[in-house]
Amino acid sequence: MKKNYFFYSNKKCFIDHNGIVSSKSHSNLALIKYWGKHNHKIQIPLNSSISYSLGKVYTVTRLIYKRKKKKNSSIKIFFSGKEKTSFLPKILEFFHRISFYCSYLRDFNFIIETYNTFPHSSGIASSASSMSALALCVMKIEKKLVSSLKKDLFLKKASFLARLGSGSACRSIYSGLVVWGCHPSIKGSNNLYAIPYPYEVHSIFTKIANTILIIDDEPKKILSSKGHQLMNNHPYARERFKCANKNMNRLISILKIGDFQEFGELIEHEALTLHAMIMTSRPYFLWMKPNTLNVIHTVWDFRKHSNKNIYFTLDAGANVHLLYPIQEKTSIIKWIYSDLFSYCKKIIESFCY
Ligand code: PMV
Repeated sequence: MKKNYFFYSNKKCFIDHNGIVSSKSHSNLALIKYWGKHNHKIQIPLNSSISYSLGKVYTVTRLIYKRKKKKNSSIKIFFSGKEKTSFLPKILEFFHRISFYCSYLRDFNFIIETYNTFPHSSGIASSASSMSALALCVMKIEKKLVSSLKKDLFLKKASFLARLGSGSACRSIYSGLVVWGCHPSIKGSNNLYAIPYPYEVHSIFTKIANTILIIDDEPKKILSSKGHQLMNNHPYARERFKCANKNMNRLISILKIGDFQEFGELIEHEALTLHAMIMTSRPYFLWMKPNTLNVIHTVWDFRKHSNKNIYFTLDAGANVHLLYPIQEKTSIIKWIYSDLFSYCKKIIESFCY
């Protein structure tokens, strides 16, 4: 599908009043990580990725649109009730990129009111849920203009727009397992928007427990956009992309047969590979903190002695996501609070679905 498919070209319809739209979008957790992009402005990934939606971890956004009286545009953003001018550059860039596909946006001034159920910029993908919620709000305005807009196109375009705000945001449009980026084994997968995972999934993977250990709640010093850029001249980039593609093939069969141990080993390998890329880029940097390593080693020891299926993954930050079968939640969560709590600032109990 070409990007032109998403142009808004209905010049006859317009909204002559003010209004409000709102949306909610869940964060997502990548099992196979997207790391590196072809073109920084249009966010084309260098490898395909797959994620789960995160329960309880979401952004709610209200977009208030007011018809412009003068030519100049204005956008204001309020985060948890307070005006947040530091978010403006990213939002302005997002509106600039998408107004090419949603020309009606140029007729309005906007007020964005948003809040998260989790700390922003701390390694839980807040840009994913926030950009996805905003893209859904924009599409709700488009739906007011084009009432015949079908749900399928609504969601595809929302994912396409969200991608222009933050790559992984395109996966937050859908719940469940979601794929973004062209992969030869996944029908319909493409670089422009995400799709729901199209194949059979064993019942053990329809909902799994996710406990998020907040080890560091400060905003990251090195943003993921910088890390993506460093993949362009990275000495191990080619091998990384090959490995991600192979891991996707392995994951397709793991998801089908329901092998949690294989699943866990694959996601831990993905997480450590992502961090290895970060540690070996130029300039190099480190997102893990001492307590990230303390958690990983404690989980490995526990797994060895208990034979429990508990595995970790990491995103672009120090925080740890623990994944385990939902059926084992009662005993495992008890162990987490007794043996891991001292390493964390906060524990968020969530689930992947
Ligand atoms: O969407 P971005 O640009 O914030 O990049 C996200 C990168 C990872 O979270 C590390 C991996 C992923 O696929 O979500």
